[in-house]
Amino acid sequence: MNTKSRKVAIVTGAAQGLGLAIADKLLTDDMNVVFIDNNDAQLNELRKSKILKDVTEDRFMLLNIDVSDVEAIQQGVEKTMGAWGRIDVLVNNAGVRKETALEDVTADEWNAILSINLGGTFFFSQAVLEIMKKQKQGRIINMSSFGGQAGPLTSGAHYCASKAGQLALTKVFARSLSDYGITVNAVSPAAIETPEMEKMDPDKLENMKTGIPVKRFGKAEEVADMVSYLASDSASYVTGATLDINGGLLMR
Ligand SMILES: NC(=O)c1ccc[n+]([C@@H]2O[C@H](COP(=O)([O-])OP(=O)(O)OC[C@H]3O[C@@H](n4cnc5c(N)ncnc54)[C@H](O)[C@@H]3O)[C@@H](O)[C@H]2O)c1
Repeated sequence: MNTKSRKVAIVTGAAQGLGLAIADKLLTDDMNVVFIDNNDAQLNELRKSKILKDVTEDRFMLLNIDVSDVEAIQQGVEKTMGAWGRIDVLVNNAGVRKETALEDVTADEWNAILSINLGGTFFFSQAVLEIMKKQKQGRIINMSSFGGQAGPLTSGAHYCASKAGQLALTKVFARSLSDYGITVNAVSPAAIETPEMEKMDPDKLENMKTGIPVKRFGKAEEVADMVSYLASDSASYVTGATLDINGGLLMR
């Protein structure tokens, strides 16, 4: 297939963890993929990694963008349009989690978390709106969290509030864009094995696993499969939804 006629997906926070698994899956689904991250070292590692080894250079882009920087987002969208002239899928996955106690959250930390997790989701979605509307098709998928639905397992108030905010944005965008063939959904994971989990206290992790009904942690590939479904043509009747992937931790 000509690279210009392939679907184009942007995945934020794609240098590791869930974002990397999602970007990898969308490449396998035969899309061109823009990997967005603000970790330059990790992006450079990725360039040499086996994930991209067999993928031709005209099928992907690695962009160092901080999703809390609205101008940088706009530049990323322009670069994508310059290369391929379309944007079919946006996965707002970039996120930062902190466990800071209520008493210790500073205004700076609050603003930083909210502007990455929630601001990044809003402004990236805003930046692709007109493009997707003109195409009369699009998929926006927001990576929320159990913490945004049920309160913290291990995360701070700012993280949980940002993740709950993403669920509200999902519905706002879904309702506003439903006439344009654009669906907007959220995925809400809990306890998925990623590099982020390696930073957590092992005792807390063991305790957490005991409380998960299926008695194991989730895999990044399982989240990527869910995103792949939401990004596909098969999911055109799903919008404004939150798909839980949490081993049964939250049943509703
Ligand atoms: N892993 C889990 O169990 C879990 C559970 C619930 C929700 N989530 C959500 O899934 C998403 C990915 O989580 P993960 O576990 O893969 O985390 P991770 O920390 O392993 O990966 C996050 C990626 O986002 C990037 N990033 C951070 N700030 C950025 C910024 N300002 N601009 C651009 N990129 C930035 C990081 O460099 C990193 O590559 C997050 O939004 C997280 O809240 C994860």
